[in-house]
Amino acid sequence: MKPLNHFIEMKKNGEKISMLTAYDYPSAKQAEQAGIEIILVGDSLGMTVLGYDSTVGVTIDDMKHHACAARRGAKDTFIVVDMPFGTVGVDDKTDMQHAIELYRDTRANALKIEGAHITPLVRKCTQIGIPVVAHLGLTPQSFGITGYKLQATSKEAAEKLIKDAKLMEQSGAVMLVLEAIPSDLAAAITKSLSIPVIGIGAGSETDGQVLVYHDVLNYGVDQKPKFVKCYGDFSGGVDALKTYHEEVKTGVFPSLEFTYKKQIMDEIDT
Ligand code: KIV
Ligand code: NA
Repeated sequence: MKPLNHFIEMKKNGEKISMLTAYDYPSAKQAEQAGIEIILVGDSLGMTVLGYDSTVGVTIDDMKHHACAARRGAKDTFIVVDMPFGTVGVDDKTDMQHAIELYRDTRANALKIEGAHITPLVRKCTQIGIPVVAHLGLTPQSFGITGYKLQATSKEAAEKLIKDAKLMEQSGAVMLVLEAIPSDLAAAITKSLSIPVIGIGAGSETDGQVLVYHDVLNYGVDQKPKFVKCYGDFSGGVDALKTYHEEVKTGVFPSLEFTYKKQIMDEIDT
């Protein structure tokens, strides 16, 4: 397993970091086999695998369930697990209890937490030894307030984001995810920080990129944001399932090839 320091070295050397979401055993196994450097068990699992229309319905138990499955599939990959909606930003004690619970029970290498308001929590987690990845820009748990659109589009908002990012680093965040912000702003923030900055919809000049597994593979997703590039097409699975369905109906499946040879009825007096 690559330690945290490795990613800081990669940033120093200008080597790009690849991050991909994965939510279960097979997707995590594929990500590890593909050489993906960081797996994110994102709360986007609410949409991609649970069928919710936002991340708001995702619980800490959902995150644990999926993160443990992903860990079983990728024992040797750095795994970041999202703290879901409503588990942080409540009060210091509750926030910490949730962070400790999720970190301990999933054997994550780091937790990711959305929003600029969480710097005190980042500090406390860091003090007790939990690495935190901060997530700024578009933070989907706040879609009810921000909508799903490009963020930091005014001078004031951009200046605030620059400050918030710096504050995250100063509070001990080990990495920063920037989502859906102007690429020149992401480039400037990336240059100004010594921790790795991973972008999604933030242009090419961040230290790395993250995308959602189901978007990358066109697997069960209807709508994709502008920043998504498809590298495969799992939607073809539907055709395979149609063929299976037809073959069951017509008796084509199972042929002898898929049937055990052993016969027993001759030995039984009927
Ligand atoms: O949940 C998720 O998939 C994420 C990424 C989009 C950064 O937070
Ligand atoms: Na997320």
